[in-house]
Amino acid sequence: MEGSSSNHMLKYFLILLAIFSYLNSSSASRHGPSKIAADRRFIKTSCSSTTYPTLCYKSLARHASLIQTSPKLLAHASLNVTLAMAKSTSAVMLKMSKSPGMKPREVDAMQDCLEELSDSVDELRKSIGEMGLIKASNFELTMSDIQTWVSAALTDETTCSDGFEKNTVNGKVVRAQIVKIAHMTSNALALINSYASLRG
Ligand SMILES: *[C@@H]1O[C@H](CO)[C@@H](O)[C@H](O)[C@H]1NC(C)=O
Repeated sequence: MEGSSSNHMLKYFLILLAIFSYLNSSSASRHGPSKIAADRRFIKTSCSSTTYPTLCYKSLARHASLIQTSPKLLAHASLNVTLAMAKSTSAVMLKMSKSPGMKPREVDAMQDCLEELSDSVDELRKSIGEMGLIKASNFELTMSDIQTWVSAALTDETTCSDGFEKNTVNGKVVRAQIVKIAHMTSNALALINSYASLRG
């Protein structure tokens, strides 16, 4: 009795295994395992010319199947991930600034920084909007607008993180997060510049 029931379990297990490996192989062949590897290599190579290559690759590798090997989609995706990070950080900071136990000076620093961050969110948003409007006829002008806005976003983030006191716990944590956003913005700018230089 026991033997046949464990036999049964084994069969069940093998069938599940077969189903899972079938599902895995079918999802791999949708994009093609070597295609994904090539797309990831393209991201890694492109990221190697940015100032923060590890952060660049980490934040973009999961969008490999969307980016493929397009410098334009790579620049667009890097703006997307930077905007998403800036938005979620500013939401957290807003909550933090209203929480009890914050010192008035901390609240002031947080609010100043939030203003800068919200400017940088606007600039990133405008840049992303323009990415979708690029045509051969307006390429240089549009790219130059995007470069201006992303540089402004980077300046705002730097001002924001510089205003933080480094000697409080909240200050340290928030500052580190803003510095990360600034690094992602710097990477996005580098990818935008290299896309611009392809046709410029
Ligand atoms: C950027 O984000 C938009 C909106 O979420 C999305 O539709 C688009 O596919 C993204 N593009 C890239 C290249 O990640």
